[in-house]
Amino acid sequence: MNTDHTKILGSTEHDIAQAAALLRAGQLVAFPTETVYGLGADARQGRAVAAVFEAKGRPTLNPLIAHLASIEAAKRYVVWNDQAQQLAVSFWPGPLTLVLPLRDGHDISPLVTAGLGTLAIRVPAHPTAHHLLTLVDGPVAAPSANPSGRISPTTAAHVIAGLDGRIAAVVDDGACGVGLESTIVGLSGPQPILLRPGGLAAEVIEATLGQPLLQRDAHDTLTAPGQLLSHYAPNQHVRLNATQAEPGELMLGFGTMPCDLNLSVQGDLAEAAANLFGHLHQLDAMNRPIAVAPVPTHGLGQAINDRLQRAAAPRG
Ligand code: TXA
Ligand code: MG
Repeated sequence: MNTDHTKILGSTEHDIAQAAALLRAGQLVAFPTETVYGLGADARQGRAVAAVFEAKGRPTLNPLIAHLASIEAAKRYVVWNDQAQQLAVSFWPGPLTLVLPLRDGHDISPLVTAGLGTLAIRVPAHPTAHHLLTLVDGPVAAPSANPSGRISPTTAAHVIAGLDGRIAAVVDDGACGVGLESTIVGLSGPQPILLRPGGLAAEVIEATLGQPLLQRDAHDTLTAPGQLLSHYAPNQHVRLNATQAEPGELMLGFGTMPCDLNLSVQGDLAEAAANLFGHLHQLDAMNRPIAVAPVPTHGLGQAINDRLQRAAAPRG
């Protein structure tokens, strides 16, 4: 482990150029996306990708998402199809990841895909991420920039709290707007499948495709690798669907109710998604068990409930 501090860069032209130069030199740089902060490495450099797994303490059987600046750039790495085209045109740049067969002759490190024949790709909408990816001019592998299993980062301060001294730099450009990781859709099988609910509601994707997405749980042979039951976990115990706090507990509310922090007083799911990880970070720092109010399961509520269930799951 590197004992130096992590450099904090801003979002000026000069700083983004410096971040791109570090990535091209095989260093690790965290950067903002509209979903969460990612921990970037040049996806073509095996040693850089290996360093991502090391910095996060992530199991190497859990593959990474390759981030690209445009649809055209993404198409160079995967076998494209009609559904990919439909979803990319509708939702890229944005909080959607597509899993497609790897194309022959690609130069992606096998560590990125954990040796699978498919690649997860995404074109983020955040202007700073887009600027950085344009300057790198190549695929950037980027998991969320948190130690494996912990709460995902939605600010540069969260990144520093988890990874300071383990990565070369973080590009600080404020809080992430969406606040939940991208929705992952698998398009390499006979039918599109929802591999991870996320920042784009499944209903919206289904409306665009004109067909329902297979749900991962109903098809246990088509598992998304590395989707561990305990994940996004605060240090403190988490209790779900609580109507009020028990003595000693902190209350994370939703809608009008007495609580310590509220995901959305108005009961707005997009606001709740944007607040989720930041509020969990804040409550966790207060070192008391956390009770969480029920959150509806439609729209972005599906992904919010997915993250909450993993935060509350027994630790492995
Ligand atoms: O919003 C996001 O997606 C963020 C930002 C930084 O872009 N990234 C992110 O990465 O959430 P990560 O590594 O925390 O989650 C990636 C997920 C993992 O659950 C992994 O198993 C899945 O994507 N994945 C990656 N490649 C895959 C593949 N070829 N097939 C199926 N699942 C894959
Ligand atoms: Mg993650």
